[in-house]
Amino acid sequence: MQTRVAVVTGGIGGLGSAICQTLARAGRRVIAADLPGDGSRVEAFLRETADTGIVFEPLDVTDFDACAALVRKVEAEHGALDILVNAAGITRDGTLRKMERSQWDAVLSVNLDGVFNMCRNVVDGMTARGFGRIVNISSVNGQTGQFGQTNYAAAKAGMHGFTMALAREVARKGVTVNSVSPGYCETAMVMAVPEEIRAKIVESVPVGRLGKPSEIARTVEFLTHDEAGFITGANIPVNGGLFMSF
Ligand code: CAA
Repeated sequence: MQTRVAVVTGGIGGLGSAICQTLARAGRRVIAADLPGDGSRVEAFLRETADTGIVFEPLDVTDFDACAALVRKVEAEHGALDILVNAAGITRDGTLRKMERSQWDAVLSVNLDGVFNMCRNVVDGMTARGFGRIVNISSVNGQTGQFGQTNYAAAKAGMHGFTMALAREVARKGVTVNSVSPGYCETAMVMAVPEEIRAKIVESVPVGRLGKPSEIARTVEFLTHDEAGFITGANIPVNGGLFMSF
């Protein structure tokens, strides 16, 4: 099997970093794209993953031109971009009555506009070459809604609508587009939820614990495999049974 090139946005974040490592250890050439911050998080990530060959590229997914430039750079330096995982995501929780316009805009622009910005820039290459795997990291809270998350739930549900529509557009061209909807996992994002609220949520998870980022990553690895070409437009819940549905 040829070495596939994968870009993971939010690539040094809670889920993104696990996804990068799992894909790299499964033989993909992985580019972790994320905000560089002050550099210390990037350095720690690169130290921890030194044996995997993961490359870091700075990226703000809300910037369409920056996404276009990243795709061009990756293709010039590493070859055709085969796999895109949109894992960049933020929360700005608050009940709607208290939500500022800036909280709405921030969440929608990273979590949803970011998906458009990246997909728009990879779709021509993937369809022209007849191969592509796109995975959008949505959330159980996009499926159920969550108290204090009108912004996040709207963005995450929107991601899956986007997934299904794009899946139809590119299905005949060897490109699959799927969503993964994680439940509550061991990430900084979830640890930022006040302890007593988090404890109640964990209590309501049938599996009885938080998910591990590696469990999300394994699902992404499966969906991005060359042999996963008949799965498209799907949403794969990985939530410990928190939300069960057909
Ligand atoms: N359902 C119903 N009522 C609730 C509630 C709930 N889940 N949570 C709080 N309330 C009630 C409170 O009891 C309180 O009632 P009273 O006014 O009668 O006392 C009231 O609502 C509190 O309202 P406030 O506007 O004052 O809320 P707050 O400012 O104290 O906190 C919040 C609001 C910040 C959203 C807080 O509830 C919170 O952090 N909730 C957790 C949100 C969450 O789960 N986020 C997930 C982040 S991780 C993630 O998103 C990853 C992923 O994909 C899974």
